[in-house]
Amino acid sequence: MTTDLFSVQDKTALFTGSSQGLGLALAQGLGRAGSTIILNGRDPDRLDRAVESMRSTEIAAHGFAFDVSDETAVTEGIGLIESQVGPIDILFNNAGIMVRKELHAFSLADWQATLDVNLTGAFLVSKCVAQGMIKRRAGKIINICSMQSEMSRPMIAPYAASKGGLKMLTRGMATDWGKYNIQTNGLGPGYFKTELTKPLYEDPEFDAWLCRRTPAKRWGELDELIGAALFLSSKASDYVNGQILYVDGGLLACL
Ligand SMILES: NC(=O)c1ccc[n+]([C@@H]2O[C@H](COP(=O)([O-])OP(=O)(O)OC[C@H]3O[C@@H](n4cnc5c(N)ncnc54)[C@H](OP(=O)(O)O)[C@@H]3O)[C@@H](O)[C@H]2O)c1
Repeated sequence: MTTDLFSVQDKTALFTGSSQGLGLALAQGLGRAGSTIILNGRDPDRLDRAVESMRSTEIAAHGFAFDVSDETAVTEGIGLIESQVGPIDILFNNAGIMVRKELHAFSLADWQATLDVNLTGAFLVSKCVAQGMIKRRAGKIINICSMQSEMSRPMIAPYAASKGGLKMLTRGMATDWGKYNIQTNGLGPGYFKTELTKPLYEDPEFDAWLCRRTPAKRWGELDELIGAALFLSSKASDYVNGQILYVDGGLLACL
């Protein structure tokens, strides 16, 4: 009974921006739990390598390359997934980028690129995937938020604006699509070592500050996100809608 509650067996799950890092780790978690996995990213070679690495561990995985900020590419990509693999039961809006500079040094192009991928991308992909979920009266959407959905940090104001926006988009999706039995929630990771956070974990000062500042006294391990991902993807969260679940070693709880 408890096992069924958290089951994602035989579901199909799309993870945007999952050819490496956090999205790939989440996809491996659901794949090991029996879901069919759709990986995505812009670079087709990196995507192929990620698909192969999953298949080598007996996970049913497929790769579809498209840019989440390009509406035409998103529509085509989701159409191909649905015709070649099948209906998408679970969507993780994970694709994200971070540009680091003081706010007054940001060009409009860098600002727009950040908002286009991190916020508009989630809108475009969700809108497209939701068409099928609405017809089927079932779906799970998980938006990958951040500590910056709640707090800013020096040099990343546009990223914080995008992740704060994503938190409210999560609530908007929950509000409009709850009646169709679609649950939309956010998963808010603390600090995990990926390409995106390389400038941070390679900086001894930041590393020491983070470990002092976080109640758990360490960075997160990517596998530590999987429990929350399974909860938000499964029947266990059928009456949970519009929430952000932070997996942060207690960081947000303490100043
Ligand atoms: N790492 C952390 O500690 C942390 C903490 C909180 C939140 N997050 C969030 O977690 C998500 C993943 O971050 P990460 O740390 O795993 O970053 P990452 O290692 O840089 O991976 C980003 C992934 O997104 C893909 N991507 C980037 N732009 C894309 C686009 N326009 N369309 C489709 N795919 C795109 C990249 O592949 P291509 O370049 O080939 O497209 C890559 O697979 C982001 O939303 C990030 O904000 C991360």
